[in-house]
Amino acid sequence: MKRLVVLALAFPLVAAAEKGAKPDVAKLPLPVARPVDFAKEVYPLFKEACFKCHGPEKQKGKYRMDTREGAFKITDDYGPSIKAGRSEESAVIHMVAGLVDEMLMPPPSDKPGQSEKLTAEQIGMLRAWIDQGARWPEGPIAEFVKPVTFAGDIQPLFAQACGNCHAGPGAKGSFSVETAAAVLKGGANYPKLVTPGDASKSSLITIVSGKDEDLPAPEKHKLAPKQIELVGKWIAQGAK
Ligand code: HEC
Ligand code: HEC
Repeated sequence: MKRLVVLALAFPLVAAAEKGAKPDVAKLPLPVARPVDFAKEVYPLFKEACFKCHGPEKQKGKYRMDTREGAFKITDDYGPSIKAGRSEESAVIHMVAGLVDEMLMPPPSDKPGQSEKLTAEQIGMLRAWIDQGARWPEGPIAEFVKPVTFAGDIQPLFAQACGNCHAGPGAKGSFSVETAAAVLKGGANYPKLVTPGDASKSSLITIVSGKDEDLPAPEKHKLAPKQIELVGKWIAQGAK
């Protein structure tokens, strides 16, 4: 009699503690029935919901999702994080649906609006993307998610932040921000400000970060971090 009680108590504990316990995939929301676009739908959702802890700055659980290589990690305890063609065998799907004990992703937070659980529609979208082959193009992503153009993004920003001093005949340092060609041409002392395709080699980024001490007023050249990022993307995409 005593032995039976012990067995009955011990069994569920063992099952729950075992990390490899099979998630109940019958509980997953169904994949959506349409083609899913990685760059427009999947990557932005990962960025919004996961990169805070699994991006360039932090890699909780040694998991990094902003690169293809990182996102497809085979985890030690939960199998493949993303298994192309098989969403029901992908740990990412198990976790966003809360099927893995203590591993709901993103983890719940006490602060409202901080860590929202993914909706059934979002999980269905991710499932469909994985089932459709989990296509993730080679190379860096952030740059192609949204094309940044001079006319649409950079011109309005520069007109407002730089136009007072860098437009018209009296443009300081003979540098004008009025057209993409003028920005690419540079000024009297900076003939090559922009290396299209490579923001890290472009002194324009140093200047708009407020870090060019050779300028008379470096702080007048400093843009907000989001704006600097935008200029960086514009250059990385080829400065069109
Ligand atoms: C607030 C921080 C946070 C956010 C946001 C977050 N995670 Fe996590 N994630 C963690 C932590 C912490 C761990 C490690 C937990 C552990 O091992 O006990 C983890 C572990 C994981 C693992 C397991 C990695 C491994 O190798 O074991 C996966 C997969 C994962 N997260 C996916 C996601 C996905 C997908 C999202 C977005 C939908 C997400 N996470 C959002 C904190 C976060
Ligand atoms: C308040 C006026 C002012 C503002 C605003 C300003 N600048 Fe300048 N900028 C200057 C002055 C003054 C110089 C030095 C010109 C010289 O060397 O004769 C300069 C020089 C430059 C140069 C070097 C040109 C060269 O070849 O000598 C660049 C590039 C530049 N600024 C870019 C910008 C950008 C981009 C912005 C907006 C984010 C901006 N500036 C905002 C005043 C300004």
